[in-house]
Amino acid sequence: MTKAKVAILISGRGSNMMALLYASRLPDSPYEVVLVASNDPDAPGLALAAAEGVSTFGHSHKGLDRASFDAIMDDQLRAAQAEYVALAGYMRILSAGFVARWEGRMLNIHPSLLPRYKGLDTHARAIAAGDSHGGCSVHLVTAELDDGPVLGQIPVTITPGETADSLATRIMFAEHQLYPKVLAEFVGRERNPDWLLGKVRELALALPDAEEKASHGSPGFFVTGGKFFAYFTANHHQDGTIGLLVKASGAEEQAMLIDRDPDLYYRPAYLGPFNWIGIRLDQGNNDWEHLAEWLSKSWRLSAPKRLTKMLDIADEF
Ligand code: GRF
Repeated sequence: MTKAKVAILISGRGSNMMALLYASRLPDSPYEVVLVASNDPDAPGLALAAAEGVSTFGHSHKGLDRASFDAIMDDQLRAAQAEYVALAGYMRILSAGFVARWEGRMLNIHPSLLPRYKGLDTHARAIAAGDSHGGCSVHLVTAELDDGPVLGQIPVTITPGETADSLATRIMFAEHQLYPKVLAEFVGRERNPDWLLGKVRELALALPDAEEKASHGSPGFFVTGGKFFAYFTANHHQDGTIGLLVKASGAEEQAMLIDRDPDLYYRPAYLGPFNWIGIRLDQGNNDWEHLAEWLSKSWRLSAPKRLTKMLDIADEF
């Protein structure tokens, strides 16, 4: 199975970067590190990554406006074919354009139990507030600083007489456990049958009058008063495949798709002769917009006329 390609952005010593990198070298890691980049060419973490044989890129942000600097970084991420970005002590506020380009694919680690203590001096603030715990959080990066959806946290007890430094040291151990685990889970979602079914269900049930019913052991989606338009199959009959089954317009389209992209499309057992097409979902690179289009095309082929007519009229406006 191909591994997800992750780039890591750092500004300093890069201990979280190393935790991510070494975890990626365990045999069952779902991701590999394709690039470590920094806004400080002298960041100690860059030299460590290079010593481990990872591609690195260092470029100072000095004298550049935010958008131009982020564009330079973005070019490097793309050249390295990164699919995900992990920020690990990257001390730069990101431009809105850069955040938007990596939306849903960029993670950050923050040394507090978010939403508490965004920004700096998190440990001292937690101690001063008399909190029982500090901790760390991994979250998705959105336009607001330290604000995106939290993907995982570890609380760390604040002991009597705790200082910001002593707490920081223990939280760092927690950070190094948390980040590789959450990143692996996050990139592994696209191969996890429960997560994939949830995503297919969300798209299928968003179509007009769509309902769900199991059919021959697989979750199926049908139009009220009409026929099935999609099935989700996970290792059905031990074929080792997770796929979405939808209707093709005919035998010709079915054959053409399989011929053109045999890694993505397949002829499903049972429904194959009825011109259904299987689309692989378990390769970690799903194009959800494309899958949503397939669901809606298949829905149209299955819905009763009264519904498709309404949509045709709506489309004309
Ligand atoms: C960590 O405390 C992390 O939570 C914060 O910056 C620090 C980076 O440390 N975002 P390191 O460079 O990973 O050692």
